Formats: sequence, structure tokens, C-alpha cells
Amino acid sequence: MAMKIMCIIIAAAGVSLLLLGVMAGKQNDPYTSLQEQAFTYPENIKAIIDNKCYVCHSLKGESEDARDVLMWDDLPGLSKARQIASLDAVIEVLDNGMMPPQMVVKDNPDAQLTDEERSLLRDWAETAADNLLK
Ligand code: HEC
Repeated sequence: MAMKIMCIIIAAAGVSLLLLGVMAGKQNDPYTSLQEQAFTYPENIKAIIDNKCYVCHSLKGESEDARDVLMWDDLPGLSKARQIASLDAVIEVLDNGMMPPQMVVKDNPDAQLTDEERSLLRDWAETAADNLLK
């Protein structure tokens, strides 16, 4: 009987140590911490990007220039420096009204960002860039 209890205690201690080890390992794993720094797109931001930017800045895009400068799907996986540079470029084109391109907006006014969408996207990009600098 005593032997059985001892075995259970030893087994329980072993499992706890194992769990602790896994948790500690996770905290020290540089890959995990790197991933945790990468941003994700909140639903409302994803919706704006999908509606107003994604058609060009994704694999769907027909313009190689657009795909070269910005791919929303790849952005979270880029180096921190590249992520910050891209987010800064996004802020810049939103501030100077360069995107979506005038040519496209002229023929299709719905392609334009509303003021609300522009400021939501801008605030998000700024916060995401700030967080990467921390
Ligand atoms: C109709 C296609 C199209 C849409 C829609 C579009 N873009 Fe672009 N974008 C381009 C092209 C083409 C370029 C590259 C040539 C240029 O700079 O004009 C570009 C360039 C950019 C650049 C790089 C600018 C630079 O100077 O480095 C950023 C950032 C950008 N777009 C962000 C956006 C954002 C944000 C949206 C959505 C609000 C958007 N784009 C929507 C076609 C598009």
C-alpha cells in the first residue's frame, strides 16, 4: 500500500517537473519569443486590407510592382526591420493619399478608403510599428 502511494507521488512529481521544464523551455526559446513579437491582423483591420489593398498587394495582384513592395500575407514573417519599414511605408501612403492608386479610385470610387478606414489602418500600423520597436 505504502509502496503504491510512493509510486503515485513520484509519478506526480515527475509529471510536474516535466510540465515546468516545457514551460521554462518555451519562455527561453528565441523562436517563440520572436513569433510573439510578430503582429496579427485584428478582424476590423483585416477587413479594410481585404477590401481596399489585398487585390493588389497579395498573390492575387497582377502588378508585380505592387507585389514587390508589399505583401500583406508575408509581412508578419519578415524581419523586424523590414516589418517596421513596411508599416512606415503604409503610414506614408495613407498620409499622402497615394493608396489605393488614384487611377483606380477615379474609375471606381468604392475602391477609395473612407476617412474612418484610413485612420483605423493608420493607427493600427503606427501601434504595430511602435510595438516592434519596444
Ligand atoms: C490597384 C492596385 C493597388 C491597390 C488597390 C493598392 N495598391 Fe499599394 N501599390 C500598388 C502599386 C502598383 C504599387 C507600386 C508602385 C507605386 O509605388 O506606385 C504600390 C505601392 C504601395 C506601397 C509602397 C509605396 C512606396 O513608396 O514604397 C505601399 C506602402 C502601398 N502600396 C500600400 C497600399 C495600401 C495600404 C493599400 C490599401 C489601402 C494599397 N496599397 C492598395 C497598387 C495598389
